[in-house]
Amino acid sequence: MSGDGGPAGRVNLRSALRQAFRVAIEGLSRDGIASISAAEIPALLEQVRETADAAFGDYSGTMAMALAKRAGAKPRDVAVEIIRRLQSAPGYADLFEPPGDPVGPGFINVRVRDDALAAAVGHAVADERLGVTAVAEPQRVVVDFSSPNVAKPMHVGHIRSTVIGDAIARILRFRGHHVITDNHLGDWGTQFGMILWGWKHCRDDAAFAADPTAELGRLYRLVRKVADAKPEELAADPVAAALVAAHPDAAREVLAETAKLHEGDPENRALWERFMPVCRGEIDRIYQRLHVTFDHTLGESFFHPLLGGVVADLLAAGLARESRGAIGVFLGGEDDPPLLIRKADGAFLYATTDLATIRWRREHWKPDRILYVVDHRQSQHFEQVFETARRWGCGAVDLVHVAFGTVLGEDGKPFKTRAGDTVGLEALLDEGVERAAAIVGSGDEGRAGMSDEDRRHVAETVGIGAIKYADLSQNRTTDYVFSFDKMLQLTGNTAAYMQYAVARVEGIFTKGGVDREALRRAGHGVQVSDPRERALALELLRFGEVLEDVEADSRPNVLTAWLYDVAGRYSTFYDALPVLKAAGADRDSRLALCDLTGRVLRRGLELLGIGTVEKM
Ligand code: ARG
Repeated sequence: MSGDGGPAGRVNLRSALRQAFRVAIEGLSRDGIASISAAEIPALLEQVRETADAAFGDYSGTMAMALAKRAGAKPRDVAVEIIRRLQSAPGYADLFEPPGDPVGPGFINVRVRDDALAAAVGHAVADERLGVTAVAEPQRVVVDFSSPNVAKPMHVGHIRSTVIGDAIARILRFRGHHVITDNHLGDWGTQFGMILWGWKHCRDDAAFAADPTAELGRLYRLVRKVADAKPEELAADPVAAALVAAHPDAAREVLAETAKLHEGDPENRALWERFMPVCRGEIDRIYQRLHVTFDHTLGESFFHPLLGGVVADLLAAGLARESRGAIGVFLGGEDDPPLLIRKADGAFLYATTDLATIRWRREHWKPDRILYVVDHRQSQHFEQVFETARRWGCGAVDLVHVAFGTVLGEDGKPFKTRAGDTVGLEALLDEGVERAAAIVGSGDEGRAGMSDEDRRHVAETVGIGAIKYADLSQNRTTDYVFSFDKMLQLTGNTAAYMQYAVARVEGIFTKGGVDREALRRAGHGVQVSDPRERALALELLRFGEVLEDVEADSRPNVLTAWLYDVAGRYSTFYDALPVLKAAGADRDSRLALCDLTGRVLRRGLELLGIGTVEKM
């Protein structure tokens, strides 16, 4: 697929305007008013943005200020020159009104023509893609996300990677990219050494037969305590204390079990193969509840056979060398810590696997870009791995660490339960759903008859949606405070509010007995004569721009913020203007705006992995 590929009439207003600005700026350069290199233009075009206040037009270009110095002219005069060229840029006049004079120090304010706006929004109503253009140059993008270390219980921290990664993958796909999702499971690490050791020394066969997941979880927690041998933990756990007394060398033995697994020891390999389905079953239950799927789940174990080759290759390429028995890639000066790829005892490292994975993906998937949705504490790891990969010949692939902060409790410390354990993910989802059940049926539409099954379904959708949205609506790089009370509020920028907005907008069609399909087919013109109609229409048409901005920075919170704005514009419109009670063309036009609003909100939530309901 290349270009838009959709019906004529799909229009990204900001892109069209930036294109016209490009022509104008190139004209400035050509005419010798200011010399501007081609490389500088994209950053200048970024300075064409929607305005916060309709009084200043719909979009504003602010680059005259940046260009004034080199033009040796006043910003205002540069703006005048840009405006002159803008008006005659191809396509400008079809969509935008003549710009008028610069405002203030040199702002170029542009208003969308009402007829163009009405036509574009009319097309969006009739359009599957809601007027959103696809990218002109689709890329192959791998999204590496979730990637928990299995055999350890999944906790609240894993939700961030899972939810953010899933949203980004959905959005990139909708934009027209070829997306490949991969859950890079930690299925090969020391946690298996712990379980193997536990299995051999303290398993409970009956418990394993009854509930294998619980028994493996118990072994993991127990052996971790035994291996760590922290006096305060042992004092509270006599079973662990007795094991430490009987096996003073347990920590080393655990590592030896991992090493044996990696060397292909048949007994450990067979046990690993027995444990893996149990571990996978546990995480798959969570993915099912979150409605998250992956194209691939190639865990670390999959890449193990390639690791020796990676080390040999990096040595041969002169990128790695030995240092005190270990092998590392020296990226900086002699004093900078190298990226270790083989320990002195022969064990490979996390980084070795990541390097093998990059090479494998490059060979098999030929990506243009790989996004790693991983905790910010791994920033240094990724910097070093990416730099090594570039020197190793993977420079053509754009490698990006999409980092995120920590989930905090309301006390501002990393989120924990009272017992001091990080909260298990499943218990957390259950609590969200349980609390959501309390608000189900509180809306007007909801009160009128809901079966128990409906209620359960709505509570699940609202509860899971709340948890996801709370995460996605944060700036991902900052830590965020996990608060059920806040995330389940029916007002403010929450999933519950957005889901309620969708139910309300769409309730109009049931209430009025309006056939939405027929409404779309009829292609009634949409009118934007009232400022509130106009503001809503313009906002709805920004969907494509917003998704472009989400992609640029991998920031789903740009989408949540915008959906909240859409809901606000809709409220203003709906509170001021009659819809079902309006007559003739007004009624059809406003119903068309309602229809598009409902679909845009629903699609927006869907791109975040959040479901909607008919009634709350
Ligand atoms: N399993 C790792 C962890 O839980 C995350 C893996 C992220 N992906 C990657 N390619 N390194 O910390």
